[in-house]
Amino acid sequence: MIIIEIIIKAKNLCKSYSCEGVQNHVLRNIDLEIHKGVFTVIMGSSGSGKSTLLYNLSGMDLPTSGQVSFGGRRIDNIKEKELAIFRRSEVGFVFQQIHLVSNLSIYENITVPGYLLKRYPRKEIEKRAMALLESIGIKELKTRLPSQVSGGQQQRAAIGRALINEPNLLFADEPTGALNSKVGREILNILTEVNKSGQSILMVTHDVKAAVRADRIIFLHDGQIEGEINLEKYMPDSELSREKQVLSWLTSKGW
Ligand SMILES: Nc1ncnc2c1ncn2[C@@H]1O[C@H](COP(=O)(O)OP(=O)(O)O)[C@@H](O)[C@H]1O
Ligand SMILES: [Mg+2]
Repeated sequence: MIIIEIIIKAKNLCKSYSCEGVQNHVLRNIDLEIHKGVFTVIMGSSGSGKSTLLYNLSGMDLPTSGQVSFGGRRIDNIKEKELAIFRRSEVGFVFQQIHLVSNLSIYENITVPGYLLKRYPRKEIEKRAMALLESIGIKELKTRLPSQVSGGQQQRAAIGRALINEPNLLFADEPTGALNSKVGREILNILTEVNKSGQSILMVTHDVKAAVRADRIIFLHDGQIEGEINLEKYMPDSELSREKQVLSWLTSKGW
């Protein structure tokens, strides 16, 4: 029997924004579980609420109503200071717009979250950073500033930074959205490898090429979950048939 370990459980999650007295219901009664070890993707068209969902599941934002538990602990009703500590220790986040610190080197960008959390001694953090630089293929760029490397290399560094504290879950919001398709593919290869080594991932995308990397795809439409599909583990030689399978499923969902 396979035991499924739950990382996130969202119940009745709602998020709305009010603008000049008008309520915009962006997330509507989301019930969702995210499982350990799994590469989960949330797909949906632009404006369907994907980023908002990611922010509410990762403690970067708070829901209007409903519950979010992360590792069995409620994060929808805790104080901002506790939430900040939670994020630093449990969550890794990769953004479309990368957001490295411009006056820190690639190496420093990766190590600083480790120094801030202080889970491990400095020596251990430095060792981990070097191993990450090696595995994500940017070891020789470690002393450069973000502006001195390419967009794809910056995104590699951002993945290293997100992984330095061994997060329970790696969140990625359209991580290939600002990259060309070749470089995007390299980033997806890294995420696939990171997942194979056991890291749980929750990624948002509206790109089928990115979505096919997932074990599980959840379809979001107008702030509601419209269905999901479970796939075999990704293998490069199955990519084309996978794309077909996912596209035909998406089409049936009104993609
Ligand atoms: N901070 C905010 N204030 C007001 N409206 C917002 C805010 N963030 C998102 N929205 C609205 O929520 C909807 C979904 O946005 P978003 O989650 O960014 O969608 P996606 O990531 O799927 O493109 C959009 O209509 C957007 O305008
Ligand atoms: Mg978005």
